[in-house]
Amino acid sequence: MLLDNTIAKALNDHVSVELAGSVSYLSMAAWADIEGLSGFASHFRKEAAGEYDHMNQFVAYLSDRDYQATFNAIPAPRSQWASVEEAMVHAYEMELDLTKRINDLVAQARAASDYFTEAFLAGFIPQQITDTAESEELLKRVRMAKDGQGILIIDQQIATQAAG
Ligand SMILES: [Fe+2]
Repeated sequence: MLLDNTIAKALNDHVSVELAGSVSYLSMAAWADIEGLSGFASHFRKEAAGEYDHMNQFVAYLSDRDYQATFNAIPAPRSQWASVEEAMVHAYEMELDLTKRINDLVAQARAASDYFTEAFLAGFIPQQITDTAESEELLKRVRMAKDGQGILIIDQQIATQAAG
C-alpha cells in the first residue's frame, strides 16, 4: 500500500534529521575525547549509534512501504563547546527537537488517517522519552558539579553506564 506523498516526504526528510543527530553526537564524542572526558565520549558515541539505528528504521519502513529513501544534505555539526555544561545543553536541546519532530510526524500521520505510520512512529516514543530524560538528568548533574573534579566523577560514572 502506497504512502500518501506528504507523509512519505515528511518521513523521508526525517531520515536525514536522524542522520544529522548521529553526526552531531559523533562530533560531541570527538570533542569530549580531546577534552580528556572518555566517559562523556563513550556516552556520545552510544547516542550517535542510537540515532543511526533510528535512521535505519525509517529507511526500512519507507522501503517496506515501497518508497526509496533519499538523503538530504546535512549541515556540518558544531564542534566546539566552552564547557561540558554547554555541550550537554546542546545535546538536551537536540533531544527536545527530535521529540518535537516525532510528535509532529505522529500528528501528521493521524491527520491523514495513516494508522500504520502512526503505529510505526509510536515505537519511537518510549525511546525518545528515555533519551530526553537521560539527557536532562545528565545536564542537571553537570550543573551540580562545582569544578573539574565534579565533572571527572560524572565522567567516570557515565563511562560505566555507557559500557553497560
Ligand atoms: Fe533518534
